[in-house]
Amino acid sequence: MSFTYAIGLLRRITMQWIVRAQSESDHDAIDRVNRLAFGQDNEGRLVRALRCLPEFLPDLSLVAEAERTIVGHILFTPIHIRGSTPPVPALALAPMAVLPDWQRRGVGSSLVREGIDRCRRLGHARIIVLGHTEYYPRFGFVPASSFGIRAPFPVPDDAFMAMALQPDAFAQCIGVVEYPPAFSDV
Ligand SMILES: CC(C)(COP(=O)(O)OP(=O)(O)OC[C@H]1O[C@@H](n2cnc3c(N)ncnc32)[C@H](O)[C@@H]1OP(=O)(O)O)[C@@H](O)C(=O)NCCC(=O)NCCS
Repeated sequence: MSFTYAIGLLRRITMQWIVRAQSESDHDAIDRVNRLAFGQDNEGRLVRALRCLPEFLPDLSLVAEAERTIVGHILFTPIHIRGSTPPVPALALAPMAVLPDWQRRGVGSSLVREGIDRCRRLGHARIIVLGHTEYYPRFGFVPASSFGIRAPFPVPDDAFMAMALQPDAFAQCIGVVEYPPAFSDV
């Protein structure tokens, strides 16, 4: 290993990032992160579509930035749980992506933790996520079925998860999650 390569590697390993709310000038970089992380454009297209919705919350579209490069992104979008009367509001965590070169260094975890904190501070009560069963439970997500919450499509029980941000958030809330139509295209 050359000295220059070793220095470069050390710099990358120790390089830190900040998590902040996105701005409009980040849109292309967010597209790039999703495309490279997922290896396709579906998730980037979903983010673009969700950003156009009136309910889009820019404060809950977070980026991780390192040396002026966007290396990660996470989005929380308002949704509803139907079945209870009236429908109960919640947030969908989706999608989340970290640039391949930046994965497994804690960027994803800091996006999830900062996202959950912000959701709680803004007064939201519930988060729903469909995702990796070995990843999201470490942040406190549990199978949504344990609260009586179901997905609107067939999905493995343990991959469809929920988190309560307030005590008894799911107490009066049994039903099916209703996503904006943009989610059906992914
Ligand atoms: C999932 C993802 C966002 C995690 O980001 P990250 O910055 O690598 O995550 P962190 O560094 O905070 O955490 C790393 C942990 O995530 C786990 N992890 C990463 N990808 C995973 C996957 N596909 N399935 C399960 N666990 C995964 C690692 O095993 C590691 O676990 P460890 O801490 O026990 O070693 C990132 O790997 C990614 O962008 N993947 C491609 C897109 C994707 O799958 N998005 C999530 C859709 S639900």
